[in-house]
Amino acid sequence: MDLFDKDVVSIRDLTKAQIEGILDLSQEMVPYALGEKTKRILDGKILGNLFFEPSTRTKLSFESAALRLGCDVIDVSEMSMTSISKGETLADTIKMVDAYCDLIVLRHPYEGAARLAAKFSVNPVINAGDGAGSHPTQTLLDLFTMREAKGSLDGLNIVLVGDLKYGRTVHSLADALTMFGAKLTLVAPESLQMPDDTVSHLKEKGCNPVKTAHLEDAISQADVLYVTRIQRERFPDPAEYNKVAGTYRIDNAILREAKSDMIVMHPLPRVGEIAPEVDETAHARYFRQAFNGVPVRMALLCSILGGKIE
Ligand code: NCD
Repeated sequence: MDLFDKDVVSIRDLTKAQIEGILDLSQEMVPYALGEKTKRILDGKILGNLFFEPSTRTKLSFESAALRLGCDVIDVSEMSMTSISKGETLADTIKMVDAYCDLIVLRHPYEGAARLAAKFSVNPVINAGDGAGSHPTQTLLDLFTMREAKGSLDGLNIVLVGDLKYGRTVHSLADALTMFGAKLTLVAPESLQMPDDTVSHLKEKGCNPVKTAHLEDAISQADVLYVTRIQRERFPDPAEYNKVAGTYRIDNAILREAKSDMIVMHPLPRVGEIAPEVDETAHARYFRQAFNGVPVRMALLCSILGGKIE
C-alpha cells in the first residue's frame, strides 16, 4: 500500500488492497491512540487543518492523531477568520497554507472543493468532507469499526438508513463496501434516496442495492445498521426538511427485530435518530466508532507522510 505523498479526495482513489493496508496499520496504532505507547514518528512535520464547516470529531481526531505522532498542527475553523472573507479564492488560500505545512486536511461546504485544493497544493490533501460529496476518512474508520466488530468485512449485510441524498458519509461508505462484496439495503424516504450516479456506480461494481422506505423490511437481516442524520443544512427549502425530519428513530422496541449481534453505527452527531436507551445495549457501536477516528487517522497520516512504525 504505497500512499506516500498521495491525496485522499475520494474513497475511489484507494484500492481494496490499500484500504486493507490502512486498516491493518490502524490496528497497530490503537495502543498509541490510547496513549499506552508513544512514538513521535512524525516529529518535525506540520498538519494544516482547514475546517470551513462545523466539526467536532473529524477535526479533533485528526488533531489528536497528529499530536500522538509528534506532528504539529496549525488550523483555521472559520472562513470569516481567513482572507477568503476578503475575497481571496480557495485556490490562493490553499497555495498559501500549502507553503506553511506538509499536509492539508480540508472540510468545505462545496462538493469538489477538496479535488480543487489537491490541484493547487503541492503537498497532499485529505478530504475531510466536501458538501454533500464524500467523506473518505470517515469511511476508513467505519470499515475499521465493522471489521473490529465482525472479524471480516466480506459479504456483510449492511443497512444504510436516513439521509442518503445529502449524507456524504454514506456515499463514500457504499462505494467502499461494494469492494468487499457487501449486500446493501438503502432505507430512506423517496426524496432522500441515494443519488442515481452513486447507485449506477455501485451496480457497475457488481452491487445491486435494495431500496426501501421501510426500515422494518430490512432490520432483521442486518449485520450492521448504519444510521445517519438528516442533513438539515443542505436543504434549499426548510419546509422540505420539516417533511422528513424524524422519519426514522432507532429505539429498543425496533431493535427487538434485529439479530442479537447486529451493531448500530452512526457517524455522529445524532439529533434524535437514535434514542439514548440504545447506548446501553450491546448493539451500540457509535462511540467506539468515534474513538476509532484516532488510530485510523494516525495510520493515514503515517502512510502519507512516510512515518515508519517499528
Ligand atoms: C458527518 C459529516 O460531517 O459528514 N460527521 C462526521 O464527520 N463525523 C455526519 C454528519 O454531519 O451528519
